[in-house]
Amino acid sequence: MRVLILGASGILGQALMREWKGDDLVGFSSRDLDIRDENKVHEAVVKLCPDWIVLAAAYTDVDGCETNQERAYGVNRDGAAKVAKAAKLTSANLLFLSSDYVFDGRKTTPYEIDDVRNPQSVYGRSKAEAEMRLQELLPQCCIARTSWLFGLGGKCFPDTILKLAANRPVLDVVSDQRGCPTYSVDLARAIIQLCRQHASGIVHVTNSGNCSWFEFAGAIVKEAGLATQVRPVSTAQMARPAPRPAYSVLSSASLWRLGIPMPTWQDALRRYRQERG
Ligand SMILES: NC(=O)c1ccc[n+]([C@@H]2O[C@H](COP(=O)([O-])OP(=O)(O)OC[C@H]3O[C@@H](n4cnc5c(N)ncnc54)[C@H](OP(=O)(O)O)[C@@H]3O)[C@@H](O)[C@H]2O)c1
Repeated sequence: MRVLILGASGILGQALMREWKGDDLVGFSSRDLDIRDENKVHEAVVKLCPDWIVLAAAYTDVDGCETNQERAYGVNRDGAAKVAKAAKLTSANLLFLSSDYVFDGRKTTPYEIDDVRNPQSVYGRSKAEAEMRLQELLPQCCIARTSWLFGLGGKCFPDTILKLAANRPVLDVVSDQRGCPTYSVDLARAIIQLCRQHASGIVHVTNSGNCSWFEFAGAIVKEAGLATQVRPVSTAQMARPAPRPAYSVLSSASLWRLGIPMPTWQDALRRYRQERG
């Protein structure tokens, strides 16, 4: 089958390009194709006529989205809708990457796929509104919500912690936000299986287990054998422009139903460290 990866230069996109074997793959960055340009999107999709489009392209700077709302909605919501329209026209299947930030974080048990969306940030709203637009335009599309993505080829939490820990004896990390770290390689492998199984509807795709950012940072430092002390701080102490959900653990039930198990985040972190060197 022919697959078009949009966002191929991102953390997930690069993992998809590396992991996907045996199919005809084309990958675009924003320089190759800006998904805000409806004519270009239409032209590219008609020309390539892919069986699947994996839409990993997004404006992912959560704090940046607060001040650059036009870009946030233009790429994440309207750009996604333009891709969905082109997919519909050419009968391509579409898998769209969404986020745990579509939820408000007030639950204390894992979020299920049919829990009510209530995003708290511009980024979360742009993703939630994209999901709704896509469900209207292309009801059979697959929406894969993921969270706390890390991997090679871009800015991610473990990379930041490792760089900071190399120079600082103490690191303050937020302990009152809980989620599921997800390794780009494991997410890419799950996405490949979802496409091959012709999955549709909403699926939650994360590594298994959950932790706070503080616990995640502690594991990163320990795994690297560094002596840096990691200290817990509250979200209120580390004010950021965009509000984050306090609890955004995504239930793995939807992925289990499709027979796709995910490794634990601790195992994923070990493999990331080996890959990073
Ligand atoms: N990172 C996370 O923690 C996280 C959590 C939940 C969900 N997600 C979702 O997972 C997906 C992949 O995330 P990621 O971390 O791999 O993203 P990333 O590393 O920030 O990469 C974003 C990708 O989107 C492309 N892009 C940006 N604006 C574009 C535009 N206007 N037109 C076309 N392409 C554009 C970028 O191209 P250039 O390289 O040319 O700029 C890049 O390839 C995204 O949909 C994201 O929202 C991420």
